[in-house]
Amino acid sequence: MADADVQEQVRARYAAAATAVSATGRDALAVVDADQCCTPTTAEANASCCGGGDEVDAAFGSSLYSVGEQGELPAEAVAASLGCGNPLAVAELRAGERVLDLGSGGGIDVLLSARRVGDTGFAYGVDMTDEMLALARANATKAGAYNVEFRKGTIENIPLPDNAVDVVISNCVINLSTDKPAVLAEMFRVLTPGGRVGVSDVVAEDHLTPAERAERGSYVGCIAGALTRAEYVDGLTAAGFVDADVVFTHEAAPGMHGAIVRATKPANSCCPPVEQQACCQPEDKAACCGTGQHPVGECGCR
Ligand SMILES: C[S@@+](CC[C@H](N)C(=O)[O-])C[C@H]1O[C@@H](n2cnc3c(N)ncnc32)[C@H](O)[C@@H]1O
Repeated sequence: MADADVQEQVRARYAAAATAVSATGRDALAVVDADQCCTPTTAEANASCCGGGDEVDAAFGSSLYSVGEQGELPAEAVAASLGCGNPLAVAELRAGERVLDLGSGGGIDVLLSARRVGDTGFAYGVDMTDEMLALARANATKAGAYNVEFRKGTIENIPLPDNAVDVVISNCVINLSTDKPAVLAEMFRVLTPGGRVGVSDVVAEDHLTPAERAERGSYVGCIAGALTRAEYVDGLTAAGFVDADVVFTHEAAPGMHGAIVRATKPANSCCPPVEQQACCQPEDKAACCGTGQHPVGECGCR
């Protein structure tokens, strides 16, 4: 299937979930499981989800948040959760920071982030699905959140300028992307030097081939598109990040785990290694980033 078709399938799935949640107030995870996972055509591929009862459900959704966190938000915002972890548990947000949530869905992580960063901070959500954006904005209104903004766009082409945020979080979305190198490069671009990544995602054990990952669940169900741990670390490093680390937290399907992904954009960086390699004459490479001697367009450094 072409990448554009996969992305449209993902969008349609989450549009339907958001519409059902908005109309009925049902828990988003229950809607997704009922509508998409356990249909006769997908039941076999999603055996761990459909056959195993609560095996996958326990690995996704609002149950991954503490009672205290759930109590901070309106019930509707909690019910909209479709994540596979709790990125706030590792992001260690501080007052005044600017946070970006990639694939913000119904907005739970943006709203919790907004409370952590307070009056002087700000939380952005980016999502490509209109119905999810509408649900998130309604939840922000119910929560009385004022330091938040939900922008329409894709995580492969983030609608924010360079160096715009201190922290990038995301919850069970990067596995859905058909162009993960673009997502990692965009995360690097929008982060300020010294900024950090705290992401929850489904990640495969290194020995699983793409075919074996596909056997364990669907692409839209956050399983088949998962990177392995080594692919994640290598991808982050190629994008320019340092201290990339992937820690498994709970099993979502055999050999597939909810995981926490961390990385840092070096404090002295202005462009990723691939760009730096391509942009300067060999004698200039050492000074390529950070000297201010190379105008934009001449050397490629921003
Ligand atoms: C599994 S849900 C997770 C939502 C939210 N992070 C949460 O924890 O509840 C995936 C979300 O990512 C969005 N999404 C998927 N692929 C995307 C992409 N390439 N660009 C932007 N949004 C995307 C979907 O519209 C959906 O809202």
